[in-house]
Amino acid sequence: MSIKPLRKAVFPVGGLGTRFLPATKALPKEMLPVVDRPLIQYAVDEALEAGIEQMIFVTGRGKSAIEDHFDIAYELETTMANRGKSMELLHQTRLKPGAVAYVRQQEPMGLGHAVWCARDIVGDEPFAIFLADELMVGQPGCMKQMVEAYNKVGGNLVCGYEVPANETDRYGIISPGRQDGDLVEVTALVEKPKLGTAPSNLMIPGRYILQPEVMRVLETQEKGAGGEIQLTDAMAQMIGGQPFHAYKFGGRRFDCGDKAGYIQANIALALDRPEIGPAVRQFIDTL
Ligand code: G1P
Repeated sequence: MSIKPLRKAVFPVGGLGTRFLPATKALPKEMLPVVDRPLIQYAVDEALEAGIEQMIFVTGRGKSAIEDHFDIAYELETTMANRGKSMELLHQTRLKPGAVAYVRQQEPMGLGHAVWCARDIVGDEPFAIFLADELMVGQPGCMKQMVEAYNKVGGNLVCGYEVPANETDRYGIISPGRQDGDLVEVTALVEKPKLGTAPSNLMIPGRYILQPEVMRVLETQEKGAGGEIQLTDAMAQMIGGQPFHAYKFGGRRFDCGDKAGYIQANIALALDRPEIGPAVRQFIDTL
């Protein structure tokens, strides 16, 4: 079996972010900062660390701040240069010309539809998907670990993360087969199963490596849970036809699509920072 290298990543960023209103009325939810970097930056950095070269954003109206974030910022750079300030942080956020593409989803019809909108830019090669509101913290990063696993087994590989049984109705859930270390065979997938019906408590935390054939499945995918075209349903149809595994990620995960998870991410990552960690710790101890 020849395993095609992973070069491209799709970032669905067209969502409205209604759970964070009013903060997200004029600001894309992917631009909400955790400490001092927007969520989308963590996902892009994770992709770059994994060797991914082409970033494809599936975006929508009101999301242009994301495009600006990865571009040159002339005013800032000129002003900071004149003041003799370091521009390292600004340069880190620039993507190489041509290493980023934007396509509009137009209508919020579900994650599966968003991914399908990137079909022509993805072409005939495997691709990763990052849901930026899931902040994955690991050494090395989550996608780099997944790529190492993918290079052994090929096919389709999703991330897997254990959650308490009373949370399984919020996520895509894996029905696990044979397990070999961190790798688990996927025998079925279900999107947001009713509580008490989930095949396991192994959820998919928004990291995927998929073969391009999933785009053909998405083309005819019917609406699923929540009346949306679900990526999970399209992936489920690939099981059996191609290898399908889950990689159990052992690092930390923060669901930043949820207010409590977002605040937890800020606290945890602030505590990790040598320059502000002690002050934050001191404050927490006074509560
Ligand atoms: C999406 C996916 C789901 C996945 C989740 C991770 O759900 O459909 O399979 O587990 O992201 O956050 P959403 O959060 O869009 O409802």
